[in-house]
Amino acid sequence: MSVAATSDAAAAEQQLQRLERATAGLQPPFAVLDLDALWANAQSMERLAGGKPIRLASKSVRCRPLHAQVLARAGFAGTLAYTLPEALWLASEGFQDILVAYPTADAGALSELARITADRPETRIAVMVDCVEHVAALQAAGASEQTPLRVCIDIDAAWWALRGRLKIGAKRSPIHTVAQARALAQEIAARPAVKLVGLMAYEAQIAGLGDAPPGRPLRALAIQALQARSRRELAQRRAKIVAAVREVAALQFVNGGGTGSLSATASEPAITELGAGSGLYGPTLFDAYRAFRPRPAAMFALPVVRKPAAGIATALGGGYLASGPADSARLPRPHLPRGLRLDGMEGAGEVQTPLLGAAAAGLRIGDRVWFRHAKAGELCERFNTLLAVEADRVLDELPTYRGEGRCFL
Ligand SMILES: Cc1ncc(COP(=O)(O)O)c(C=O)c1O
Repeated sequence: MSVAATSDAAAAEQQLQRLERATAGLQPPFAVLDLDALWANAQSMERLAGGKPIRLASKSVRCRPLHAQVLARAGFAGTLAYTLPEALWLASEGFQDILVAYPTADAGALSELARITADRPETRIAVMVDCVEHVAALQAAGASEQTPLRVCIDIDAAWWALRGRLKIGAKRSPIHTVAQARALAQEIAARPAVKLVGLMAYEAQIAGLGDAPPGRPLRALAIQALQARSRRELAQRRAKIVAAVREVAALQFVNGGGTGSLSATASEPAITELGAGSGLYGPTLFDAYRAFRPRPAAMFALPVVRKPAAGIATALGGGYLASGPADSARLPRPHLPRGLRLDGMEGAGEVQTPLLGAAAAGLRIGDRVWFRHAKAGELCERFNTLLAVEADRVLDELPTYRGEGRCFL
């Protein structure tokens, strides 16, 4: 075993002992946050951000009290929300400086935003636009010139290869060029009930794509080469767009990056803040990055309820699949004890999950298996609370969005 693998195994064994001691007597299924790992991850993210503030991606946390605790840290500032109703709810709970990262077509929520912006301007909610229709919908929301709605333009961060015939990146904003960004900024400037306050360009093909997929060295090289080209192109284009839009509007922030690109994105002078969250929980999709490998901090425990054969242990439930392309990377992964794997035919099941591998034979009915989710905040849609474990005791039980009866997407 390599030195890294040996230390991974030792850390996993130590984590298993702590979690088992902390939750002894509790009946799974339940979800936990290992706070020792989570705060270490937060510190790593701050270091990688190099002094620029990290706007906390709420979709990757989905737990209001934890969100507040993270924002109390010096390295994090403001929220990157995922829907406008969510942002309005967070504002009603006292959160300020909220950027809704994805556009909205919710006229009722926009009217409510206009009201809040007038009554409580300190909430500073900004909404995302990438076309004139979005801007027109904001204009129709009834905001006044004295308290205009705050808006942010979403810039396409994809890398266009082969003269634009091959577009590598997420299919988000149609605003890609300097001219398009300037033109939309001018459309906003022409409407007194809206005010352009920021730009955002999220490079999904870098921040959300691991550059060291295990066991796939050629794919890793291809991803690394592609990401290097894309990073260079985006840094130049982003700087030009920011300069051009600053001639039209006084920008308060330029947001970019994510957990997988913190230090590279932070190094661009045009960027004033990062947007990230997943690195706190350390889900399995973030195991494959060279720049940052978060510690597994969010997990769920399932009980072993049957033994179909001596070498198989079957856990109750477990089918908590992550969003995205339907491949095996979206499945939850048995984490502890080490040496377990899903069954290729059954995967993680709605009501039961058979587990194979060397450790399965040693599991008895009533034992626990600890799983990790592929993504971060989506786990919270399955559990009402997160047990916050510090060292080897449960410090707190934190309600998730679901536990507070909040379901935004
Ligand atoms: C707009 C935006 N910014 C940043 C992120 C990064 O979030 P995370 O760090 O949780 O991957 C995402 C993730 O999808 C995003 O959509």
